[in-house]
Amino acid sequence: MSKVSKRSFASDNNAGVHPRVMQAIAAANDGHVIAYGDDPYTARAVEKFHEHLGKDTEVFFVFGGTGANVLGLKSMTQSHHAIICAETAHVNVDECGAPEKFTGCKLLPVTTADGKVTIDHIKPLLHEVGFEHHVQPRVISISQATEMGTVYTPREMKTLSAFAHDHDMLLHVDGARIANAAASLKVKLKAITKDVGVDVLSFGGAKNGMMYGEAVVFFDKTLALDFKYTRKQGTHLPSKMRYISAQFEALLTGNLWRENAAHANRMGQLLAGELGKIPQIRITQKVEANGVFAIVPKKYIAKLQKKYFFYVWNEQTSEVRFMTSFDTTEADIADFVGLVKRTLK
Ligand SMILES: Cc1ncc(COP(=O)(O)O)c(C=O)c1O
Repeated sequence: MSKVSKRSFASDNNAGVHPRVMQAIAAANDGHVIAYGDDPYTARAVEKFHEHLGKDTEVFFVFGGTGANVLGLKSMTQSHHAIICAETAHVNVDECGAPEKFTGCKLLPVTTADGKVTIDHIKPLLHEVGFEHHVQPRVISISQATEMGTVYTPREMKTLSAFAHDHDMLLHVDGARIANAAASLKVKLKAITKDVGVDVLSFGGAKNGMMYGEAVVFFDKTLALDFKYTRKQGTHLPSKMRYISAQFEALLTGNLWRENAAHANRMGQLLAGELGKIPQIRITQKVEANGVFAIVPKKYIAKLQKKYFFYVWNEQTSEVRFMTSFDTTEADIADFVGLVKRTLK
């Protein structure tokens, strides 16, 4: 039998599907409904989004997070525009150049200490506004929670949106982990989206317990006018939409989204707390969501990965990333921490 654990800390995408979401998929598997979203499951799921984010939002379901980001950004830009983001942003490093290809825009990545963009990062990029030889900054794209496991406060988001709107720009949020951010801040989803001036949001499902599926949410409805064409042309109109819709309905009913995210965050805290007690390990980022970044001596990494897979974030500094998920258990953490202690002793 393989010694490799079936569990890992590689990604919250490595987890399976929450049982209640799986039940919702099975329950939706009942007879025929109209395809492409004109079905009762989709109507109910959109209603759930309206409950959480406000009635005056436009919601579109897509297959995945890269698609949500790319198509959302496309609806906000023309090809002479630029999109400002953190150097570590998924749109910058993990989407195979799709945002550039499909929007035609130049990405302007800024170096941050913790994955969080501030207006001080943005100001120097605005000095050529109106000059036809330069791309024109149009969107600030932030990730909430960030790829570094940190979380913007509502005030920080409001500052960014106010700055964007004062400078004829828009605020886009990659919310692949928006649930983790809201759970971390102990606020409603609305408090870090609509209430703080977000224009377009990629709302994550997969990392929060769904099998697949994300949503593009427009708080500025004028930006959504052509989105149904953009989504279809962008190959993200699911024919059997009801199976994404049913999952979102399950996640957004009761508190499942928050329970899953809060649990993953708690497991992140526990893991960081335990690893932080090991003298040869240094936690490098604040653990505000479900990501834990740590320097682990290089010579031990491969050995640890054989049992519990995780990714090296920075080869040079020997920094690794551990992600916890809705199904991480305290026993997983105790087992892994035990392995780390035995390996590093
Ligand atoms: C911050 C962030 N955005 C978006 C995504 C969505 O990616 P995918 O296209 O794999 O669903 C991910 C997935 O890892 C992510 O971490």
